[in-house]
Amino acid sequence: MNVAENLRKHYSLEGKVVLITGAGGGICSEMARAVAGAGAEVALCDLNLDAVRAVLPTMQGAGHTAHRVDLRRVSEIEACVDEVLAAHGRIDGLVNGAGVSKRLGLLDVDEALYDAIMDVNLKAAFFMGQQVVRKAMRGRGGKIVNIASYNSTRICGGSSVYGCAKSGILGLTRSMAVEWGGFGIQANAIAPGFIETPLCRELKEDQARLSCIEDMTCCRRMAQPEELMGMTILLLSDASSYMTGQVYNVDGGALAGGTPWYFPTAYGAKQHAETE
Ligand SMILES: NC(=O)c1ccc[n+]([C@@H]2O[C@H](COP(=O)([O-])OP(=O)(O)OC[C@H]3O[C@@H](n4cnc5c(N)ncnc54)[C@H](O)[C@@H]3O)[C@@H](O)[C@H]2O)c1
Repeated sequence: MNVAENLRKHYSLEGKVVLITGAGGGICSEMARAVAGAGAEVALCDLNLDAVRAVLPTMQGAGHTAHRVDLRRVSEIEACVDEVLAAHGRIDGLVNGAGVSKRLGLLDVDEALYDAIMDVNLKAAFFMGQQVVRKAMRGRGGKIVNIASYNSTRICGGSSVYGCAKSGILGLTRSMAVEWGGFGIQANAIAPGFIETPLCRELKEDQARLSCIEDMTCCRRMAQPEELMGMTILLLSDASSYMTGQVYNVDGGALAGGTPWYFPTAYGAKQHAETE
């Protein structure tokens, strides 16, 4: 088998059905396109039905479907999983991607905001996982990818509830891996850094905060949503058959430390050259 055939065998999603929540958004619409490009049929689920319908014609392959769901309600999650199973007959992969955030100081958060952020980012992933495993994966295996965040590990001011939810995603991912490993199910989390989507638009538009992001990120820039796709395909494909219960940071090196002051790249490059 040549290299291309070997890669295709391990990374192909042909014959698989993948349910993606938040598929109308910046990151997960790109995930839907990538997963379809790898050969899977995709069920795109979102509160915004128009947004997921608009993604459908941009995807390769056939058989993809759009579903409206309000993930804050467990009854709607149950109905959504039934609808996806009625349309596709199986679910092999689940991406829990829907998320919301609002930057506000800890002292200013009220119960309604707390519930809104926790419900979409954490409760929905918990019950979507439960439903998909009960109805589709128990007995045949599958892959779960939960979308965590840089804020799962390090907190930016004003992200207290979001940070609680995204830290919770790491615990949820471990529980899924521990309890469902025996069913042939692997669960992992991807923790993106700063990705250019509507969720992060305000950061991009604020020059002071954008400079901060550049300084704390080894790659010295925000990322485009497509830069998460390699990890997504890996975690949904057979190539990750012995990977479970982990969090994979795709953050341009932000958790590695960053540089709190300007460090000229040319100097680093020269120094490197001199030591060779
Ligand atoms: N953009 C970033 O820099 C970044 C960084 C780290 C983590 N993340 C995470 O990545 C994921 C995707 O983020 P994004 O930047 O693409 O955001 P986005 O705002 O572009 O997309 C979020 C999607 O979730 C959907 N949604 C919101 N509430 C819902 C509900 N109640 N029911 C169903 N769907 C609902 C929205 O309609 C939207 O399509 C989120 O979990 C987010 O927390 C994003």
